[in-house]
Amino acid sequence: MKIPGPDPRPDGGVGAIAQAGGLHAYQLRLHAEYGPVARFQLPGAETAVSVADPVLLEATAHLDRRPERLFSFLDPLFEAGNLQVLPADEHAPWRRTLLSVLAGRPSHEQAFDRFTALATGLADRWAARGARGEAVALQQDLTALSLRMICAYALGGEVEGPDVVAAAFEEVLADYLERLYQVPPAVDPQERAERTARALALLRATVDRVIAAHRNGGRADRSDLVGALVEAGERPARIRDTVLATMLAAHHTTGVAVSWTLHLLGRHPEAAERVTGELDRVLGDRPAPGYADLRRLPYLRTVLQESMRLYPPGPYGARQTAEALTLGAYTVPAGAVVFYPFWAVHLNPDHWPEPERFRPERFTPEQAAGRARLAWVPFGFGPRSCEGAALAMVECELLLAVLLKRLRFRPVPGHRVVPAERFVLWAADDIRMLVSPRGRCRSRWRSRRHRWGPPRRRRRGTRHRQDRTGHR
Ligand code: HEM
Repeated sequence: MKIPGPDPRPDGGVGAIAQAGGLHAYQLRLHAEYGPVARFQLPGAETAVSVADPVLLEATAHLDRRPERLFSFLDPLFEAGNLQVLPADEHAPWRRTLLSVLAGRPSHEQAFDRFTALATGLADRWAARGARGEAVALQQDLTALSLRMICAYALGGEVEGPDVVAAAFEEVLADYLERLYQVPPAVDPQERAERTARALALLRATVDRVIAAHRNGGRADRSDLVGALVEAGERPARIRDTVLATMLAAHHTTGVAVSWTLHLLGRHPEAAERVTGELDRVLGDRPAPGYADLRRLPYLRTVLQESMRLYPPGPYGARQTAEALTLGAYTVPAGAVVFYPFWAVHLNPDHWPEPERFRPERFTPEQAAGRARLAWVPFGFGPRSCEGAALAMVECELLLAVLLKRLRFRPVPGHRVVPAERFVLWAADDIRMLVSPRGRCRSRWRSRRHRWGPPRRRRRGTRHRQDRTGHR
């Protein structure tokens, strides 16, 4: 059967997406009109087949190739070939090495104290801002912090001046993102090019020094990313690329995930109270969890999961078929781009009742039982899914626990939070919130009250309009 979809337009589909108000809104309309498998014009890919049903997505889960043109904006970052689009035979061993470190508990435990110190430092700075009556810009500060976390993780304690490294990375990224989104450069183009070149050189030299140290000393332990890559026989250029790509993949996404979670909790005080009640019970007077405590914070985890459902930090993915593929009643031809609208999948009403509502309880084991495996895919799926998923969950949970144990977050009156789809899912004008210390007595009292009971009913009018992102 022919895959349904709108008639092609000479502008390659750009106009229709702009007219809908962005790719996500367009996707929702597309699937409402044409069903779960729909053909559309994707700028940069000509024709793509979008699949918004998690059961049908299973038939694509083996696809092991990304479309090159869609990811070519990242080409300048890499010396040994764009890691996003590596051929499968090069990608599979590289992925195995990454997973052996990133997904392993030893590396999480190893980095945990450093992560905690960074999170506590941010809580201190925000507490000081709050005391001065100033709002904080969540996405700006949290993505900067996640970058420092991943620098500490990927480069270990061996790097001098992590702030300089972090700043250099921001410089490079600002340039690539300006080009991707065709934003006029914030500085003179010549100066921008020179600054990017200098920053990239600094990043590569830094990583090179770490690699050289590993050559002499061998692999430190199972938490050593660079050591694992050296041991696996990867070329120095590929190792440099991997460290830079890991930083890129890790820092926006993690920072943005935490910021959307705080945003949702600020608009759902009853859920925020349940989180702080759980933190008080598990941590007592301790300001931060230990690694083993994270498992004892199941409600916090459901809040994070629900937040990543409503605001997936990486809202889209894509693959390319090598041969014809059967998708329900349809056949996708060889060489086609299969588009993954993760955000629309998360709002598919056939799999998520009242998809627009913030309801962390969806992720309790009882409610999650029987749900389609690919209904929740913030980290993608299949052989190109996120290698950092487990580490990201640790980072996000730790950050949320430290921040929410100590501080209370309220929306800034009148500040509109509008999702903006760029490489990751930002808010157009950041997420600005007011921060104040949590009253200890008050929170203890609340923690007792919420120990066993079901969540209290939401007060009328507490949900912000921006929480409503509908699947039509
Ligand atoms: C909340 C945080 C994060 C989210 C939501 C996220 C999400 C994603 C998504 C959606 C993809 C594309 C998956 C696909 O195409 O199926 C991806 C790829 C990737 N992510 Fe993450 N990510 C996060 C954090 C991290 C961290 C902390 C790291 C590393 C330390 C990381 C490393 C990577 C890498 C290396 C890839 C490329 C995968 C490949 O091509 O094999 N990510 N991530």
